[in-house]
Amino acid sequence: MGEENILELKGVSVHYHGVKALDGVDIALKKGEVVALMGPNGAGKSTVLKSIFGIAPIDSGAVSYKGRPITPVVHGMSGLGVVLVPQGRRVFTSLTIEENLEIGGFSIRDRSELKKRMDDVLSAFPALKTKRKAKARALSGGEQQMLAIARGLVAGPEALLLDEPSLGLSPRMVKEVFAKIREINVKRGASIMVVEHNIKSLLEFVDRAYVLDRGRVVAEGAPGRLLEGGILEKVFLGKLEAPAG
Ligand SMILES: Nc1ncnc2c1ncn2[C@@H]1O[C@H](COP(=O)(O)OP(=O)(O)O)[C@@H](O)[C@H]1O
Ligand SMILES: [Mg+2]
Repeated sequence: MGEENILELKGVSVHYHGVKALDGVDIALKKGEVVALMGPNGAGKSTVLKSIFGIAPIDSGAVSYKGRPITPVVHGMSGLGVVLVPQGRRVFTSLTIEENLEIGGFSIRDRSELKKRMDDVLSAFPALKTKRKAKARALSGGEQQMLAIARGLVAGPEALLLDEPSLGLSPRMVKEVFAKIREINVKRGASIMVVEHNIKSLLEFVDRAYVLDRGRVVAEGAPGRLLEGGILEKVFLGKLEAPAG
């Protein structure tokens, strides 16, 4: 089973100063997939991404990358091929679009290789390409989110982790971002894990989804099955049985 998984968490638990944020979660990202992690605020979605990326302290359980156990360390992940685009579209607004992209390619020593990669990434983002010399502060919210994703792509990730890319965007822009996520998956062959709070329209764009609640996985499956079961409504209305313990 292991070899077809790009990333796998087995029984991962995380505490923050005595607060249990994750309680024995099993989550996999298979090669070529787009997977959603959904659930209410505080469910532990960001902590899943942070534990994969070496930012959250793992108490117990294991993380594997391409079938091999790893100890996630933040500075090593991009070299392995894992990129995290954190919540809150943190682009450097006083830098130009090109300069922001260069930061995403910090590990690429060869300038001509870096330039080639930046051109390649910009070809997928026409709005950014035309403004490549402009400061990021001149971009709209949606364009800044696209820039945050584009910056992650410069490193050429095999696994891309996106934390709430839709936050604060208009419904139209949200659809554009989700469509771009699928395009990145298809055209660049990246396997993608995307966290969202409660945006059902995301399910149209993913292969599989996990629903988290209070640090546990409470449902997993194909989007259609999750929608039929009404699990999202139950979780968000607090009508799911509290997990034992
Ligand atoms: N740095 C931190 N210190 C203490 N508690 C934290 C920290 N980060 C997250 N938590 C807690 O861990 C739980 C899960 O948080 P998080 O993974 O951010 O949830 P989500 O992304 O689903 O909203 C929440 O109860 C949150 O308050
Ligand atoms: Mg979060």
